[in-house]
Amino acid sequence: MTGARRRFLRCAVAGAGLSLLPRAWTAGAADVLEGCAGASAFTLPLAVSPDRIALGAQTLALRATSQQESLAFVANGMRNPTLVAATGATASIDFVNALGEPTTVHWHGLSVDTRNDGNGEAPVAPRATFRYVFPVRNRSGLYWYHPHPHGATARQVYRGLFGTFAVEDDDELALRRALRVVVGDTELALVLQDRRTGDGDRYAPAPEDELLGWYGCVPHVNGTLRPYHDVGRTMYRLRILNASNARTYRLAFRDDAGDAVAFHLLGTDGGLLEQAVPCREIMLSPAERADVAVDFSGLAQGRYVTLETRAFAAMQDLPRAVVDDVHGHGRSAGSLADGAPFDLLQFRIRGAATASVPIPQRLSHLPSIPASEEDRPLRLGFAKGRWRINDRVYDMDATAIDVPTGASETWLLRNYHTSAPHAMHLHGFQFRVVARETSPDPIASMAVDDRGRLATDLGLKDTVLVWPGETVRIGVDFRTPYPDSQVYLVHCHNLEHEDAGMMLRLRVG
Ligand code: C2O
Ligand code: CU
Ligand code: CU
Repeated sequence: MTGARRRFLRCAVAGAGLSLLPRAWTAGAADVLEGCAGASAFTLPLAVSPDRIALGAQTLALRATSQQESLAFVANGMRNPTLVAATGATASIDFVNALGEPTTVHWHGLSVDTRNDGNGEAPVAPRATFRYVFPVRNRSGLYWYHPHPHGATARQVYRGLFGTFAVEDDDELALRRALRVVVGDTELALVLQDRRTGDGDRYAPAPEDELLGWYGCVPHVNGTLRPYHDVGRTMYRLRILNASNARTYRLAFRDDAGDAVAFHLLGTDGGLLEQAVPCREIMLSPAERADVAVDFSGLAQGRYVTLETRAFAAMQDLPRAVVDDVHGHGRSAGSLADGAPFDLLQFRIRGAATASVPIPQRLSHLPSIPASEEDRPLRLGFAKGRWRINDRVYDMDATAIDVPTGASETWLLRNYHTSAPHAMHLHGFQFRVVARETSPDPIASMAVDDRGRLATDLGLKDTVLVWPGETVRIGVDFRTPYPDSQVYLVHCHNLEHEDAGMMLRLRVG
């Protein structure tokens, strides 16, 4: 099937039935969520956080705090506020670690120097402070912040320590005007996290969780279990962050007649696409973001639309002996496997109709990546009991990759067949996806161009999911404005994989 034909099937036709999906997508997983304690559907309202703090004018005091098992960043009395900065502003943040253990703040997706990267190599001790000061060099987009102390990132994030970081520039403001969306009303941030029930924020992975990832049983959106939200009959912009430790979502919207509701993808991790892409579903792996426009103007009052994750094959294809070994240590209770389908959020259509707003032809301009000087393979796989990159695991004293000053490189992220999906993340730089090769059929069938790319591959990225057997080529412009060389990390954002060492250091310049 040609790329153009695939695009027609997968991304432009609203209401095409599930029957078009390859078998692997639909086979197997039933909606076992109903068996999960506390998985009641749509009884609680979505928390729409008005908690935004503008950075730039003065230094912000930010604390990491704990309350029994729950952790949070607190600033100006707000828990996990959205930090907002204009491109070019200076972020100055006085961070206080009020936890009983070391932590850091990592500014996920932002182009900062090593000192401000919070990468875990110089953790902030309990009761100590650290001032992060950096110019905001990124384009507009939804970035996020979370701790990164090596070996404890998964636990601290799961227990609640994360927030979003919105960067705004002229393209962003122009888009809001054109779509007539208002932050906190028709523009909503949706933060997805799957949680376990009954145990508060306790994080206690069994060997199986450590191998595959810590999967919850109940979906939370903005901290609320399966909420509902009343919406007007108009265009909504949803900025979605997957803050889950390990879960990948196959996101789609479904109306109350069971039909798919088409939407537009406006942007990815590193901000707006050049043009909006019509879609019916997208994959969103841990740490990825998607900026989406959904038009509710054609739906009658009283109807509803559900944001769901559809079934897919998890492709956690490890050697039998490895899996038997971890099962032998006891199965983990209260989790749903990756790829299980369930509902996340229900939109209830309310109010009078407004005219539907057209999406602008052009959203932004993407920087092109200069031709690469080097092709660098990064092989992802499992050996001797560990997830590895190029057969190595993280070593704070070893720099695995040396990038010459000012270089552009093509990285070949090659996942072995006997592996699992890995959400590969690079610190300090946004990259472009150049091509996907030898993708598994369900992924190949979602491609929107003849290079095998998905709609979500078309923008700037800092995290990209690489499926077993697949090679994802990415182009990275490693130029920096810093006089000295800088150290960054590349790792899997399945946080259990990361904590177990699926991470390498790179030196740039
Ligand atoms: Cu969001 Cu190194 O991580
Ligand atoms: Cu990061
Ligand atoms: Cu991984």
